[in-house]
Amino acid sequence: MIHTRLTERFGLEMPIMLAPMALAGGGELAAACAAAGAFGLVGGGYGELDWTRREWEVAARRLANKAAAQRVGCGFITWKLDQDASALDWVLDQPLLPKAVFLSFGDPRPYAERIRAAGARLICQVQFLEQVPQAVEAGAEIIVAQGGAAGGHGAAAATARSTMVFVPETADWLAAHAPDVLLLGAGGIADGRGLAALLMLGADGVLLGSRLWATCEGLAPPAAKELAARTTGDGTARSPIFDVLRRKDWPAEYDFRAMRNALYREWEGREAELRADPDSARAAFDAAVAAGDFTGANVTVGEATGLIRDIPAAGEVLRRIADEAEARLGGAGALINP
Ligand SMILES: Cc1cc2nc3c(=O)[nH]c(=O)nc-3n(C[C@H](O)[C@H](O)[C@H](O)COP(=O)(O)O)c2cc1C
Repeated sequence: MIHTRLTERFGLEMPIMLAPMALAGGGELAAACAAAGAFGLVGGGYGELDWTRREWEVAARRLANKAAAQRVGCGFITWKLDQDASALDWVLDQPLLPKAVFLSFGDPRPYAERIRAAGARLICQVQFLEQVPQAVEAGAEIIVAQGGAAGGHGAAAATARSTMVFVPETADWLAAHAPDVLLLGAGGIADGRGLAALLMLGADGVLLGSRLWATCEGLAPPAAKELAARTTGDGTARSPIFDVLRRKDWPAEYDFRAMRNALYREWEGREAELRADPDSARAAFDAAVAAGDFTGANVTVGEATGLIRDIPAAGEVLRRIADEAEARLGGAGALINP
């Protein structure tokens, strides 16, 4: 077993956390990750109360009376909470309290006290170094440094940081200013090489989205997962195209990585035109979603798709990654990055 400050403080058997994934990472996936010894986050996402309630209750049923119930939390998109925080309020009031709340994409400070008062720990995902002091001020126990390879939303393509540089730079900042705060790296990690590399870059663990999306428990349609398992890392890109098509009003500093399918390529480089007159493209998108046609519907996966070649159970993926990292690091033993 790999020991890091993350495994020690969060009672984990591997230094891995499931990313919260809006609509794709529900209670089954979070519970499976927790049961395997990682930390599982239900993807509260856009804060729809019905979805969060249903998926949190699935996780609660799966983890009832199990020690793994200590390893589950819920994530939210912070700027959506600014419009409606009812799902956060609901989950903080449940018999199975989330052990951590994960916030990304906005200022976490207005929600920090509410989360702490309920007894949950705060995890903040950041895309830029300048967001780190704000997250520390909010009382985050974990900062997740998200690089541009990540699937789903992240920093807009022109300014996105690379995981390879952003993680050690954030590690240096935390060592100098907030040495007790833990650091996870995210974006492009899908195997034991990635976990071992991120630990060497100064992280206490990793956050996995795409790799765990492509598992039996992930809620994405099977055809989307199978497509991801056949696509190389060249096959995704970041842009606002799918946000415009999905009528999602994201702040300009963020955009969205997904597969470059036929509808995406039609609009690539023509985002201003799409924004000016989106109706026919939205109709094509809606029709593709209704038909389960992934030449038009988005397949939300990151560059790590090039490292995904099968769709196993989440527990198997996690064990493989932990075992491979341990072997590459020369076996179990001392605390890494004490
Ligand atoms: C399908 C999908 C949905 C996501 N939804 C969210 C979300 O709702 N909230 C969030 O903070 N991050 C979300 N993310 C980003 C993850 O938090 C994480 O940063 C990312 O998955 C890490 O990169 P990876 O996909 O290469 O593992 C999503 C990622 C994916 C792949």
